[in-house]
Amino acid sequence: MSTESPVGPSSDAVRPAKIRLRHLQRAKQKGRPFSMLTAYDQFSARAFEEAGIEVLLVGDSVGTTVLGHASTTATTHQDMLTFTGAVARSVTRPLVLADLAFGTYESGPSDALRHGVELVRAGAEAVKLEGGAEIAPQVRALVGAGIPVIGHLGFTPQSVNALSGHRVQGRDEATAAKLRRDALALQEAGAAGVVLELVPAEVAGELTEALAIPTIGIGAGPRCDGQVLVWQDMAGLSGFHGTFVKAFADLGDQLRDAAQRYRAEVGERAYPGPEHSFE
Ligand code: KIV
Repeated sequence: MSTESPVGPSSDAVRPAKIRLRHLQRAKQKGRPFSMLTAYDQFSARAFEEAGIEVLLVGDSVGTTVLGHASTTATTHQDMLTFTGAVARSVTRPLVLADLAFGTYESGPSDALRHGVELVRAGAEAVKLEGGAEIAPQVRALVGAGIPVIGHLGFTPQSVNALSGHRVQGRDEATAAKLRRDALALQEAGAAGVVLELVPAEVAGELTEALAIPTIGIGAGPRCDGQVLVWQDMAGLSGFHGTFVKAFADLGDQLRDAAQRYRAEVGERAYPGPEHSFE
């Protein structure tokens, strides 16, 4: 297993103490894939920092994975501030990226800027928003104010209703061409990277080559510059087994097993034992 950092200079065994956007850009130039995971709380954030994950995404997926909503459209700006703060206070090395919630940027640049500033105050080091050329003015306003932006194209979960569900985007020539126009518009507006979600691997590979900024794929094949997964999917906790997901652990089973053994020991008065009790 390589211990070399994908974001460090090739001749340098020392990993950067703090991941910045320039490290992701360098990783792209060197052809070394970097990793992003969602994180919403101090325990997951610290574990992922210790694992060397370069970017922690406080995704609006917190609404579905933690808060029990059916869609990320229910995640509020206040939710994002709360969970961004929790992650940002817990780590020092990874780049902390936070989502602008549905309804906080679509109406125009000043709305986007106001909410982006609040996310940065909560600890975000960059913000992510969904959409293409139509949100270029918002991207420009954020970048102009010193707030780095990551775009999000392909399947954009906040538009799940307009997109008629979770569907791969860019399968035909016209939609693939639109993806390309949107990606270039985001780059032109100053975005520092773009997430590609549910995009055919070939299309995502071509976009990755066409763009100067890094692409980060989720269900977008192996040629993206980085990869991102929702951590509960990655760790086998959510039980979601979408085609693009690989579970690298079975935390769901382990958690159930631990709770069952705890319950059994409580029932038998085996726990707490003398070693867990006070004189
Ligand atoms: O909110 C989220 O988890 C995301 C990922 C799906 C990229 O945006």
